[in-house]
Amino acid sequence: MPKEIVDPWCPMALKRSLSLIDATSVGIGAIIGAGIYVVLGLGIGLAGPSIVASIAISGAVALFSAFSFAELGSAIPKEGGPYAFAYELFSPFYGFIVGCLWLFAQIVSGVAISIGLASYVVLFIPSLPVKVVAVAAAALLTSLNLIGIKQSAAVNNALVLIKVAILCAFIAFGALYVNMENFADFTPNGIYGTLQGAGIIFFAYLGYGRISTLGEEVKNPERNLPLSIMLALGISMAIYILTGTVAAGLMGYQHLAQSGSPLADAASATGSVPLVIAVSVGAIVATTSVLLTNLIGISRVAFAMARKGQLPKSISKVSHKRGVPYVSIVLMGSLLIALTGLLDLRQAASITNVSLLIVHMTVNASAIMLRRKAPQLLKFRAPLFPLIPALGICSCLALALTLGAQAWLAGGAVVLISGAAYLAAKSRGKKPLT
Ligand code: ALA
Repeated sequence: MPKEIVDPWCPMALKRSLSLIDATSVGIGAIIGAGIYVVLGLGIGLAGPSIVASIAISGAVALFSAFSFAELGSAIPKEGGPYAFAYELFSPFYGFIVGCLWLFAQIVSGVAISIGLASYVVLFIPSLPVKVVAVAAAALLTSLNLIGIKQSAAVNNALVLIKVAILCAFIAFGALYVNMENFADFTPNGIYGTLQGAGIIFFAYLGYGRISTLGEEVKNPERNLPLSIMLALGISMAIYILTGTVAAGLMGYQHLAQSGSPLADAASATGSVPLVIAVSVGAIVATTSVLLTNLIGISRVAFAMARKGQLPKSISKVSHKRGVPYVSIVLMGSLLIALTGLLDLRQAASITNVSLLIVHMTVNASAIMLRRKAPQLLKFRAPLFPLIPALGICSCLALALTLGAQAWLAGGAVVLISGAAYLAAKSRGKKPLT
């Protein structure tokens, strides 16, 4: 049995049960999903074949911020990730807003992933409505989270192996059929189209920070947190660049841009039915594992906020038997299910990206603050400080600016509403918020 953490300030502690491989797998489980299998089509519509450059650009943006996540995750290995960093290094007020924005973005990303999952499931059972499948998937994975983190991690490890193997098969087999003519019109919408493609495909990288929300459940976090973040991001980036190149080389971008299941369509250009089936199964496995870790991350941030008294205390309840924050899991899972019916894929992906790019800016700011306020806590030092977090802030802002006004409005509304709610509660003298 994993050792129970005894936190003198908090009896509601979690269990430290995740190894380096488990944590890396949670990262890859959170990263490779609807982004490469579904949002890729939206990205190709904007960037054309230069989606390959878009993937590299957004990967670089993710990498800058990953260094900050890694530094902070090892220095402040607390449940809650960006929320915990902002709370500890800036203020409870700032932390509350970051936590709300992160929760909102993760729930909306869960909507996009559920729709992505459903759009591949209906390839096999066309009579099923996409929304019904999406809602059912969200409910099923909420239940799996309730069984416990260790069990969830074991399932996640298996799902990650399968989805990586299937993408590797797509790359190896598909590469034999690439038609170089598909790259002739490389930037049909100009460089700005390539940048917009980077803005939307950033969705595919989201998830690496998820590891930092498991700070209290990873063994030897000083070493394993930063290492697992870097490993998860590096492996995913390599797979994406190769997958994007092969997909764009297999089929004209105009066709892929219209597709709800672009990798299955690209695979069909090889004429191999088994490959199409394998890719479709891979999409279902990938999106399932992303939804699973998405729910792990969301419930742990809500748990962390409730434990500090910033959300109702009952949300921080941990099951004695299973060691999971079950109230938080049920509540966040229910919100995800409810929202899945409201948004379409493009809206959900854009809203997620803008909100999370803003959160990533705050994480880079927290990394700068950490070196000023508590450099003794640093167990892992990113190179080229402060250039890397500064590049992280600027590049996240630049990508976010390529996304639509609706996404900015949604993110801005969450910031304003959560800020106002905090100040209103504080003015009523609610102690936990101070
Ligand atoms: N990166 C995750 C995905 O692609 C959110 O599904």
